Amino acid sequence: MVIYMNFRNELTKRTNEIEAVLNKYLPTPESHQKVIMEAMAYSVTAGGKRLRPMLMKETYLCYGGTEEVIEPFMAALEMIHTYSLVHDDLPAMDNDEYRRGKKTTHVVYGEAMGILAGDALLNYAFETAVKAFEIAPEKSLLIGKSLKVLAEKAGIYGMIGGQVVDVAETGKKLSKEQLDFIYELKTGALIEAAMMIGAILAGAPEEEVMRVEKIASDVGLAFQIQDDILDVTSTMEELGKPIHSDEKNEKTTYVTLRGLDAAEKEVERISEEAITLLADLKEANPFLEALIRELIHRKK
Ligand code: IPE
Ligand code: IPE
Ligand code: MG
Ligand code: MG
Ligand code: MG
Repeated sequence: MVIYMNFRNELTKRTNEIEAVLNKYLPTPESHQKVIMEAMAYSVTAGGKRLRPMLMKETYLCYGGTEEVIEPFMAALEMIHTYSLVHDDLPAMDNDEYRRGKKTTHVVYGEAMGILAGDALLNYAFETAVKAFEIAPEKSLLIGKSLKVLAEKAGIYGMIGGQVVDVAETGKKLSKEQLDFIYELKTGALIEAAMMIGAILAGAPEEEVMRVEKIASDVGLAFQIQDDILDVTSTMEELGKPIHSDEKNEKTTYVTLRGLDAAEKEVERISEEAITLLADLKEANPFLEALIRELIHRKK
């Protein structure tokens, strides 16, 4: 086990670097549609752990990546993730009024603008990611491969697919297999995109990208189970979003299916599996290992 001394400092430093990248790529509020740029910035800059861009960058570093080309993809993925949250909180979905410690976008800007802000973030994510072609034209092939992963993992075979089954099965008692399917897609897919794109843009070979996908899938599943746990054990102040949202929406979760203790053990077991697989990758990244370990006991 790697002991990582300055984890907290490093985490803050990296989070700040990611915030700077996000601010750089967000559109300037202007013209008659100004309100939508403001709503986009409201949801993106509200806070959040920035886990996906962080995992992307750390995997990129793992494979020796050093260039700016990663930045538009980091920003794009956080935009897609944020849009998924804006829409997830809508009255027609989880109907939640707080996110990242602030009122949700639809509460502040109205439901129609909430929907449009989500749409705008999704589209602008791709407008942002394609800027990589201008930054590094010589990497066009790798950028193209990364765009394919980003598009697919966000779509009907990825995050949207997971949200669809989550919504369709609301109020029903689900089996562990059904729940794993939902989690793998609604949460796992964007985490897979994060780590895979980091590896791809650094030039990692196909087999390595597939190994990274498996690690990310474990990280994603553990992450969503912990999210279920926090929905019953945390507080709104700490979490920045309402607790008991799952109960309100009659969701089957790992906690309702297995109980709290078993869910906690699953988070630990699956995360340890990811850490073991991580040790087999070509280059060690002690911060990445520490980050995955940190997520097991995260409080928000
Ligand atoms: C929340 O994601 C939605 C889930 C997939 C559980 P995060 O917990 O990463 O939310 P932020 O980005 O930190 O707000
Ligand atoms: C949503 O899962 C995951 C997304 C793809 C947005 P949840 O509905 O459990 O996420 P939270 O708890 O609202 O963040
Ligand atoms: Mg939901
Ligand atoms: Mg929700
Ligand atoms: Mg949740």
